[in-house]
Amino acid sequence: MTDPAADFTTRPADETSVANLAAAGLRYALVDTADQDAFGAWQHADDRGFLGAARTAEQIASGLAGLAYRRTTGVYDDTQSAGAQPDGAPWPIATVNSWPAELTLPGSSLEHPRTLRSWAISSVTVAPTHRRRGIARNLLEGELRTAAALGIPMAMLTVSESTIYGRFGFAPAAFVADWTIDTRRARWIAPAASGRVEFVSVGRYRDELPQLHERVRLTSPGEIDVWPLRWDQVTGVTEPDSERTRSLRALRVTDESGTTRGLALYRWSGGEPDFTQHTATVERLDAETPDAEAALWRFLLELDLTTTLKAGLRRMDEPVRWQIADFRAATVETREHQYLRVLDVAAVFEARGYLGSGELVFSVSDPLGFAAGVWRLAVAEPPAAAAKPPASTARATVTRLDSVPIGTPAVALTAAELAAISLGGVSVATLVAAGRITELSPGAAVAADGMLRTARAPWLSVWY
Ligand SMILES: CC(C)(COP(=O)(O)OP(=O)(O)OC[C@H]1O[C@@H](n2cnc3c(N)ncnc32)[C@H](O)[C@@H]1OP(=O)(O)O)[C@@H](O)C(=O)NCCC(=O)NCCS
Repeated sequence: MTDPAADFTTRPADETSVANLAAAGLRYALVDTADQDAFGAWQHADDRGFLGAARTAEQIASGLAGLAYRRTTGVYDDTQSAGAQPDGAPWPIATVNSWPAELTLPGSSLEHPRTLRSWAISSVTVAPTHRRRGIARNLLEGELRTAAALGIPMAMLTVSESTIYGRFGFAPAAFVADWTIDTRRARWIAPAASGRVEFVSVGRYRDELPQLHERVRLTSPGEIDVWPLRWDQVTGVTEPDSERTRSLRALRVTDESGTTRGLALYRWSGGEPDFTQHTATVERLDAETPDAEAALWRFLLELDLTTTLKAGLRRMDEPVRWQIADFRAATVETREHQYLRVLDVAAVFEARGYLGSGELVFSVSDPLGFAAGVWRLAVAEPPAAAAKPPASTARATVTRLDSVPIGTPAVALTAAELAAISLGGVSVATLVAAGRITELSPGAAVAADGMLRTARAPWLSVWY
């Protein structure tokens, strides 16, 4: 069977957005990422939109190579006066790019991966000269229509501001935490880990990280597959001379067989005027076994001349909280991170795994239409022979109904709340208490949470 999304970079620009923006005198068009001038101008406009410094020639070159695989769209104002922008190819006044990525779903494991092809959306910018005229709305709605036309059941993004995307049916489904630990109070009280921790070069770390992350992300709902340029940015390949890059240190933890089970990247700062009071900032910590994770955290918590350990974009439920002597040694600041938008209810809820069986009805309203309807989710008991692990064997079917049936737990919600609960990281009972979900039958929230919740909080460890 041919892949309906195979032509995602060249599928023509969404007709409705083309027409809406043309009526405003603007040209909404795909950018040919093989055209270095046009794509370079698009990247400059993207940086300007995110308040960034102008990209260096090397950074533009790495963007030309590393982001060319995406569907790339610009909005152009051909009426801009001469001199209003630099020489060369015209800069778009709005940007967006998108690509099919893999979102890890509840119930996924290395042996039985459960991932959902989802439409990742990035680089949404509108120039300050053209803001609040509905251009972003046309970008976003155009992206959703394009994804649906390509047969992609979910859209996803990370955000600069949490106020923008709810109106388009997005909601946060995975959260992150920034951890700050006073290492003087964080004595290790858990059993010693057996892994061997050693320093490796950052280049070696860069070589090993993609394979390790590929394994780790398949066991972690909310994660996505990461593109090589992101790893180059994390490890400083794109900015070899920056102070940040030069201060990076890399760690590897291996098991008894010498296999890499965990990697960490961190840097020191501070130490003035008191040299004993440095801060170590963990840029990434990836581990595929609890042992490797514990070994890395312990090593970082016991660094000499260091009193503060910071780690951002971490899990909300880090085991380290229970491995140190003093809970209050850790300050944990949480933030919503992975935003989802359900485009095909049946495909999303049939693809994920469930810890519990049962039936549940969603009555979904969706002004954009994609998820609207009454949907019955039925999760069957796994066959006895395959009872372990239940999360990867329980079979789910989703059926569209004409009306809400009597006798089945049912909730009413919008597409945004449906996205929030889709990975099991947000409690239905909480959203009922918040007035965001309505129970259509008594006790429906508890029944829904029994089916949808996951053992650990979903998590996304990158920006995109
Ligand atoms: C955010 C941004 C893309 C919005 O572009 P825009 O073209 O001005 O947005 P639109 O005019 O299409 O606005 C659509 C709706 O979103 C609202 N909106 C736009 N920006 C908003 C913001 N920052 N916060 C809250 N609401 C916002 C508008 O009021 C409008 O609401 P309505 O439809 O209910 O009337 C633009 O301001 C921008 O580029 N910001 C800097 C880069 C950035 O943060 N991008 C987002 C990356 S995740």
